[in-house]
Amino acid sequence: MSLPVDWAAMIPPMPSRYSRLDRFLSARLGVSRSALRRPLAAGLVQVNGQVERDRQRRIGPFDTVRFRGDIMQANSPRYLMLNKPAGVVSATQDEGHQTVLDLLPPDQRQGLHLAGRLDFHSTGLVLLTNDGCWSRQLSQPDSGVRKHYRVTLEKPLTDDYVAAFAEGMRFDYEGIITRPAELQIRSQYQADVWLCEGRYHQIKRMFGRFDNRVLTLHRLAIGNLVLDEGLKPGEWRALSAMEVASIFP
Ligand code: URA
Repeated sequence: MSLPVDWAAMIPPMPSRYSRLDRFLSARLGVSRSALRRPLAAGLVQVNGQVERDRQRRIGPFDTVRFRGDIMQANSPRYLMLNKPAGVVSATQDEGHQTVLDLLPPDQRQGLHLAGRLDFHSTGLVLLTNDGCWSRQLSQPDSGVRKHYRVTLEKPLTDDYVAAFAEGMRFDYEGIITRPAELQIRSQYQADVWLCEGRYHQIKRMFGRFDNRVLTLHRLAIGNLVLDEGLKPGEWRALSAMEVASIFP
C-alpha cells in the first residue's frame, strides 16, 4: 500500500494565517517595518474601510487592506459543494487526470482548496473553499462533524460488521485504532457508514478486514450539510451562509 496521506496537512496554510499589519504590509510592499511607521501614523493605511494606525493589528485572510488607497488584499470567503463523479481526482491539479477543480469554470477556481477528499472512484459530496480555517475545523475528528457514506459491497453483510465498526479497528501502518464508526445495514449488499475522521482509504480498509470489497462508495453528507439532490455528477453550486454555518453540530 502506498503512503497514507495526511490530507489536513495538505490544506494550504495561507488562507487561515493571521499576520500583524506591519509584517503583512512589509511583505506586500517589500519595505522594512520601520519604513511603515510614518505612513501608519499619517493614517495612510485602512483596514476594512477604517483608518488603522496600530501596527500590531492582526490581519486575517478576509480583511481588506489598503495602503495609500491601493488595495493590498481583498479576498472574500467562498464555499462550494460539488457532486464528484467517479474517475476524477480530489486535487487541485494532477498530471494525468481531470480534477474536481477542472469541473469549475476557470473564473471560479482561484484560491480554492478541498475540504476533505474522496478517492478516485468514489462519488458524491465534496466541498471547496478558500477559507483554510473552516476546512481545517471540518477535518478535525474532535469537531464532531460526521461524514455519511453509502457503500455497496461485493459480498453479503452480517451483523458482525456493526460491532466491528463501532469498536474501531487497528490500522498498523498509522499505529492507530479507528474512532467509533456507525454502520447501518440497508440491504444484503448495501450499508450506510458514518465516520468522524478520514484515514487513507478508511472505509475500503475497514470492509477489507472482512475480505469484502467496496464496489461503490458515495458521500451523502458532511455534518449537517447534505448533497443537493439537484446536482448531477460533475455539477456544483455555492453554499448559502446558513449552510456554511450550520455544517457544524
Ligand atoms: N473511505 C474510502 O475508502 N474512500 C473514500 O473515498 C472515502 C472514505
